[in-house]
Amino acid sequence: MLVLGVETSCDDTAAAVLRDGSTILANVVSSQDQIHSPYGGVVPELASRQHIKNILPILDQALQTAGVGLQDINGIAVTYGPGLVGSLLVGLSLVKGIAFRWGLPFVGVNHLEAHLLAIHLEHDVSFPYVALLASGGHTLLYLVKDVGSYDHLGGTRDDAAGEAYDKVAKMIGLGYPGGRAIDDLAKTGDCRAVRFPRAHIKKGSYDFSFSGIKTAVWHYLRSRDERQWRNQIADIAASFQEAVVDMLVRPTIKATIAHDVKRIVLAGGVAANSRLREKLKERADEEGLEVFSPAPKFCTDNAAMIALTGYQWLKRGRRDEFCLNADADLTL
Ligand code: KG4
Ligand code: ZN
Repeated sequence: MLVLGVETSCDDTAAAVLRDGSTILANVVSSQDQIHSPYGGVVPELASRQHIKNILPILDQALQTAGVGLQDINGIAVTYGPGLVGSLLVGLSLVKGIAFRWGLPFVGVNHLEAHLLAIHLEHDVSFPYVALLASGGHTLLYLVKDVGSYDHLGGTRDDAAGEAYDKVAKMIGLGYPGGRAIDDLAKTGDCRAVRFPRAHIKKGSYDFSFSGIKTAVWHYLRSRDERQWRNQIADIAASFQEAVVDMLVRPTIKATIAHDVKRIVLAGGVAANSRLREKLKERADEEGLEVFSPAPKFCTDNAAMIALTGYQWLKRGRRDEFCLNADADLTL
């Protein structure tokens, strides 16, 4: 079964072709980072206009790489939320057009569910597992019992982890998006140089909070001369990252033990972070737990994870109608 996946929920235009839910024949992503970088964040209107320009060439490239035509596709999966409504509509409208022209079944995919299941593109992980989904827009913890069975364990009470990375990167002049740049810079810094505060959420909760760390970095920079902190920039990046990683790892390990689960899965753009992967693995090893991390290209937004999730639902007989609308605030 050949499934075409299409993803346009935020600022990446992506298309993928997946065979039988496991073999990736093509996975093409066109990033708009350069367009949004001067603004320090995604500008919704620019994002949707860019998707319109990119979507057909990206679709062609995916089909060409896979060596197939639309006539060979058996089903289509497209992100219909959550995300920016103008961006979502570009992918969704394209897919409805193709489905109509070729008489193909299609399913709308929840972007969050696709991040949670992305691990199955490369690893044979059995259910149940605890999944930490940390991206630019979300920081969530789920007990994943099966495809379609997700118990919400916790989430951020304010900023998402990726948002904190991007805002701190902007403060120290690293551009947008800043997660990868902080990750790289932190490798040359001392993570014990500055002791930034960790948010402690009350006992029994698996929630997160990242607005405090962002403010703490801002106060730290303001209380110093710019020349002084510029010399210290790698130490600041490493110390900030250490605090974020601590705040992500602690509730994840606690929740996994409390639910008597043996496996942890990382998901979302922040899951590409090298220190998060390292520290979570260290703590998990101490507790006798296994950690599964997708390759960085499957942590950040991609259409292979959309095709995989769509495949799972198409296989179960789900079909969506042409009246399916984009849902910017879709939850899991
Ligand atoms: O999942 P994603 O591509 O898009 C959303 O659905 O939000 O995540 C993007 C987020 C951005 O905030 C970006 O700075 C962050 O993931 N990110 C990272 C790294 N790579 C991407 N954060 C920390 N370390 C990284 N290596
Ligand atoms: Zn995402």
